[in-house]
Amino acid sequence: MKQFKLLAPLFALLIFSNCKKSPAAPTGLVTEKAMVVSAREEASKIGSDIMKKGGNAFDAMVATEMALVVAYPFAGNLGGGGFMVYRKADGEVGGLDYREKAPLSAHRDMYLDSLGNVVPDMSTVGATAVGVPGTVAGIIEVHKKFGSLPLEEIMAPVIALAEKGVVVTENQEKRLASQREKFIEINGDSTKFATEYKMNDTIKYPALANTFRSIAKNGRDGFYKGEVAQKLAAFIHEKGGYITEEDLEKYQAVWRKPIVFDYKDLHIISMSPPSSGGVTINQILKMMEPYDVAELGHNSTKMIQLFTEASRRAYADRNYFLGDPDFVEIPYDKLLSNSYLEERMQSFSFDKATKSSAVEHGNIEIIESMETTHYSIVDPQGNAVSVTTTLNGAYGSKLYSDELGFFLNNEMDDFSSKAGVPNMFGLIGAEANSIEAEKRMLSSMTPTIVEKDGKLWMVVGTPGGSTIITAVAQTILNGYEFNMSMQNAVNSPRFHHQWLPDMVIFEPDGFPSDLTDELKSKGYIINEERTPIIGKVDAIRVLPDGKLEGGADKRGDDAAVGF
Ligand code: DON
Repeated sequence: MKQFKLLAPLFALLIFSNCKKSPAAPTGLVTEKAMVVSAREEASKIGSDIMKKGGNAFDAMVATEMALVVAYPFAGNLGGGGFMVYRKADGEVGGLDYREKAPLSAHRDMYLDSLGNVVPDMSTVGATAVGVPGTVAGIIEVHKKFGSLPLEEIMAPVIALAEKGVVVTENQEKRLASQREKFIEINGDSTKFATEYKMNDTIKYPALANTFRSIAKNGRDGFYKGEVAQKLAAFIHEKGGYITEEDLEKYQAVWRKPIVFDYKDLHIISMSPPSSGGVTINQILKMMEPYDVAELGHNSTKMIQLFTEASRRAYADRNYFLGDPDFVEIPYDKLLSNSYLEERMQSFSFDKATKSSAVEHGNIEIIESMETTHYSIVDPQGNAVSVTTTLNGAYGSKLYSDELGFFLNNEMDDFSSKAGVPNMFGLIGAEANSIEAEKRMLSSMTPTIVEKDGKLWMVVGTPGGSTIITAVAQTILNGYEFNMSMQNAVNSPRFHHQWLPDMVIFEPDGFPSDLTDELKSKGYIINEERTPIIGKVDAIRVLPDGKLEGGADKRGDDAAVGF
């Protein structure tokens, strides 16, 4: 008996650690071999069907990206840009940067008036806000390097979808209605989206189908040269913008080495600059690594404190050090070293909040939005693709080419127009992210792939502007530390802190007032007026038997489709 008493704690520990190790039962869609999770079922299905026809994850990426232009014009795009992180079945990893860039005529003070003040709306609305689009260069580059089906075959169902049209959902009706006045102001009252589309209406896109045909036939040149390029440059010029045919012709997508790091027994692969996603998520998770996060409890006061303090410090670095690596020197060795991150966390204590002014200072507003879009793909061979793509704001600059059938981005606002002045996400930039001709603007997009025990485990990403990085980090922690199914990890309530403004924001449900009161008593400033949704995560988890579980965020019309 005495012996049992001695051994009991050991048994309890064994049982507990085994419980922790046995993976959560799936609650999302489970498929045997392949899956696409994206913002719209139509797009997920087109991507999945391409794999059913024998295409790989990269073919499916091209199809899904293009289908989102039709099914999710809010963020799916020909006139924007994005990032892809991949992991091939043999373990090879890589990243593609098809981020927009500043036109040749761009310069540091282009959005300032003669007194040096930022001109309202100039970097956010209409033709002056548009960066050189990268999406078509991105998909063509992916297809050239890894595609297995002919481009025309991949584009065929997308063209068919544009012609047949897409049914408006309740969410889409609301989104279109909220921007209708702006569409008319920017594009005139005969523009396509001057029409009041209602739920269950079908919107067809014949002009877009023609642009797709040009791309299907001529690849990159079908967009960056010839008729489409001429029409696009002439249209932007007529509307007062800066992008020329030369800007279009010169645009190149760039393969970049992703940021890779270990968090406990996970191996995480995420996007490198000009996205800040990989560096910042690396810093946040490494600052948390010394703690027993599972023991602190999901969304407990202590877990929120630890995550918030790591985020505060990481975003302060993000805003100061990160920019386009082709233009600025980024001190990766220092920023990502264990000793530096340990030192950054030395001022952290569970007793009391650190003030952001003690880390750095500033005074800005966070604006939430969901206008980017993310999709995750796994194919039957085990190749994985994680892509986040955007027009930046809702329907980008709202500038819509009726002739070519697509919206143009307002990505120029992701630059720092003036040091210390916040952009639309409340992010303040520094010199590293100032405007220069042909430079790429800093992004927060965080397409990420996670390995566990050397095998593919999770494909994950989200829209959400500056909240992207924290939403991706929390989804990984939900799955790993708190042993949630993929669908539960995605649906679980989220919170966010980005150094400045010095406040924590919480989603509407899931954070009881005794928890927020306790945080307040420790000196945390909580924004109680604004409880936006944070992120709209689309992810895939590989189950122990090799099946796939989708996590399609309940916050939108997102859907997992596979076989
Ligand atoms: O690249 C970026 O970080 C932003 N342009 C992303 C914008 C975004 O996520 C908007 N929607 N949520």
